[in-house]
Amino acid sequence: MDRIAITGGARLNGTIPVSGAKNSAIKLMAASLLTDEPLRLTNMPRLADTRFLGKLLSRLGVEVVERDGADGQETVLHAAEITSGFAPYDLVRQMRASFNVLGPLVARSGQAKVSLPGGCTIGARPVDLHLQALEALGAKIDLHEGYVYAQAPRGLKGAEITFPIVSVGATEHAMLADGTTVIHNAACEPELADLQDCLNAMGAKVSGAGTPTITITGVARLGGATHAVIPDRIEMGTYAVAAAMAGGEVRLSNARPGLIDALLRKLEEAGAGVEETADGVIIRRNGSRLNAVDIETAPFPGFATDLQAQFMALMTTANGESRIRETIFENRFMHAPELMRLGADISVSGGEARVRGVERLEGAEVMATDLRASVSLVIAGLAARGETIVSRIYHLDRGFERLEEKLGACGAQVRRIKGDGEPEL
Ligand code: UD1
Repeated sequence: MDRIAITGGARLNGTIPVSGAKNSAIKLMAASLLTDEPLRLTNMPRLADTRFLGKLLSRLGVEVVERDGADGQETVLHAAEITSGFAPYDLVRQMRASFNVLGPLVARSGQAKVSLPGGCTIGARPVDLHLQALEALGAKIDLHEGYVYAQAPRGLKGAEITFPIVSVGATEHAMLADGTTVIHNAACEPELADLQDCLNAMGAKVSGAGTPTITITGVARLGGATHAVIPDRIEMGTYAVAAAMAGGEVRLSNARPGLIDALLRKLEEAGAGVEETADGVIIRRNGSRLNAVDIETAPFPGFATDLQAQFMALMTTANGESRIRETIFENRFMHAPELMRLGADISVSGGEARVRGVERLEGAEVMATDLRASVSLVIAGLAARGETIVSRIYHLDRGFERLEEKLGACGAQVRRIKGDGEPEL
């Protein structure tokens, strides 16, 4: 398998264009199941996850065409007919978000059989709230041998749904009803507003996404549409942290800094320069060491859990001790022992990590454990003395488009070592 080698020490100077948001793109792709007309998604990232979902959708009968259009990379998805309502274990296991085809399949064709996604390295991640939402919308749900069998022959009806905890995925599922639905305690993540905009372009009547109450007024049918995927706030935040870690001056373009306000304020508090521009943000650090600051992850607009690993990497060389509290997932510190291989001083207890900043990290061989953890190791490698080699980078390829190219354009020494095709132990 491929690995990534980073030779640390180079400052970053240049511009990094931010891609379309992975977490939005995959939900929007699944929304193509809701109509027999083509859905054209522009500003599409090309990632392992989007390719993967494309493969699953093709199996369900969707024609998926990736192309370079007048507005850049786009994907056209045409579900003229759903030929199968079956999402097998192998495809859902590899990417949890594949589970999001369940709701659209039931809404469109009245039935679906979708594998349970199972746990993953960052926590148990159950789907009970997704299933409760679909049941509230009138679907009959049965679980057998690892599969969810969902049936709603007369379509999904409206309901009033109050989530006990905030869940991005379950909120997205509840937004697919035909009838009039009110969702309380909805997730407020920007990807929900993006899904709302896309559904409305398809003829739906959804309002309130981005607030804790979302209202869906059922319409008879949805049609085709063109929709631009919002910029990836996690990619933007990742490169902002990378610039603060390596030092230099990086302009992030095609970005919406308002979506990572919590991170930008923490970067400022730590001593990095943050300047918002018309289409993004400039991050600067001129040699001086950053100060340790504490963070606590929270649902949007709080500090994103998907940026926690990157921020921990940044804090490994800050001046003082930083406390990092993870409140969304119960096992999301898998990157800590890997950062410690580079010389970081971290202790983890329950949902809290304490990071005591060291003068300098040393390059080492490390292993990626999940998508965001993998990029935290690359960030650490940018500032480590010598060479850092990150293995299992298939995690990285799931969510970061052309990472070596984007960092390399700013002067980072990052290269991919092609594997021999052998799986890693
Ligand atoms: C999405 C994002 C992920 C991000 C997360 C939180 C995608 C593809 N992934 O994941 O990158 O880290 O939001 O911002 O968009 N939960 C339950 N029961 C459920 C569903 C969730 O208990 O049925 C729990 C989860 O275990 C977790 C918490 O709710 O502790 C939040 O999870 P959720 O917001 O659903 O995350 P995802 O949608 O899976």
